[in-house]
Amino acid sequence: MNHPLRHLQDLWSKAKQSGVLPHRNVICISTIDDQGFPHSRFVDLKEINQEGLIFCTDLKSNKAKEILNNPKVSLTIWWEHVAHQIRIQGFCSLIDPQLADSYWEKRVHDAQVVSYIFDQSQEIEHSKPCNKNFLMKKVNMIVII
Ligand SMILES: Cc1cc2nc3c(=O)[nH]c(=O)nc-3n(C[C@H](O)[C@H](O)[C@H](O)COP(=O)(O)O)c2cc1C
Repeated sequence: MNHPLRHLQDLWSKAKQSGVLPHRNVICISTIDDQGFPHSRFVDLKEINQEGLIFCTDLKSNKAKEILNNPKVSLTIWWEHVAHQIRIQGFCSLIDPQLADSYWEKRVHDAQVVSYIFDQSQEIEHSKPCNKNFLMKKVNMIVII
């Protein structure tokens, strides 16, 4: 039998080729807070390599704080188009900063702008000022570039 990560790479490759779902990279990651409660949310799967599965997040986010406090995580994936549910438990660790930078550079411009403006996991009090702030920042960034 294939190594589980190799098998997962093959499945992911098939899942990306077939099917019509727009978000075929989305996976659910669950972390544990300091009270022992699980928290689950979706993230984008960036890559599967020999060491594991890679996703990116803000290190100031709740999930990052939870992982730094307790690296035990679980992943749940549903690839309908290849008829597989995948459930993984393991340990999460930081990737090399240069690799993290390369993923950042590949993000679409709007996503980079939003990451600059908003602190992930923090409440947004009023949507209008935020939208205005977003537009202002976007314009600034376009001018600078
Ligand atoms: C389709 C989809 C993809 C997402 N991808 C990411 C991602 O790659 N990284 C990330 O940090 N958050 C991603 N999010 C947002 C997270 O689900 C979550 O709301 C956010 O990271 C804050 O979570 P936290 O407060 O538990 O840290 C995605 C959300 C959706 C709906």
